[in-house]
Amino acid sequence: MNKKENTKENRSQDPLKLEQMKKIRDEIFNLTSSPLYAERVASGNFPVIGEGSYDAGIIFIGEAPGKNEAKTGRPFCGASGKILDELLAHVGIDRKNVYVTNVVKDRPTNNRDPKPEEIELYSPFLDRQIEIIKPRAIVTLGRFSMQYIMNRFGLTSELQSISSIHGKKFFVKEKDLFIVPLYHPAVAVYNRNMLPDLKKDFEILKDILR
Ligand code: URA
Repeated sequence: MNKKENTKENRSQDPLKLEQMKKIRDEIFNLTSSPLYAERVASGNFPVIGEGSYDAGIIFIGEAPGKNEAKTGRPFCGASGKILDELLAHVGIDRKNVYVTNVVKDRPTNNRDPKPEEIELYSPFLDRQIEIIKPRAIVTLGRFSMQYIMNRFGLTSELQSISSIHGKKFFVKEKDLFIVPLYHPAVAVYNRNMLPDLKKDFEILKDILR
């Protein structure tokens, strides 16, 4: 295994989960059909599969890797990651007990928004990660993951702009699952004054995990 891959402390004791997650990782590493593959290889970047516990109660889902993430293969390890760490600390959640990933697993050129066809290509991997982990809550970070996950779990009719529904929780009865759309942590990178609002939104996670 490459040194720079996701090698954080593991993940689950369940051999089936480990095997299924490894398969996902291998498939993404070899995803030559992706329009982002050639650039990943040419720039010596890595795909960002996800990181954390495979038994997590919460999955956090961002948009796509940024520059630092693609360099290291780790999600949310740059400026947005620092904010995410601060928000997790605010509610006493240990990052290694949750799972953190993105909808799109390779970095879009120059941090542009992911294209619909990229979301379509990568989202089945996310679906499989969710199916393996079976979390109690999915927390979406930003509008791309909010839209994907709410549509995916039959909440299309509840979908509104992120400024209207951030910090609310939606329950998916058939899956016994909460969906919580939150602002992307990058919001507070650009505007530090937003941090208290983001912290307040995170407090909803304490109730869910209680
Ligand atoms: N922004 C994201 O959406 N995901 C990351 O992993 C980093 C920044």
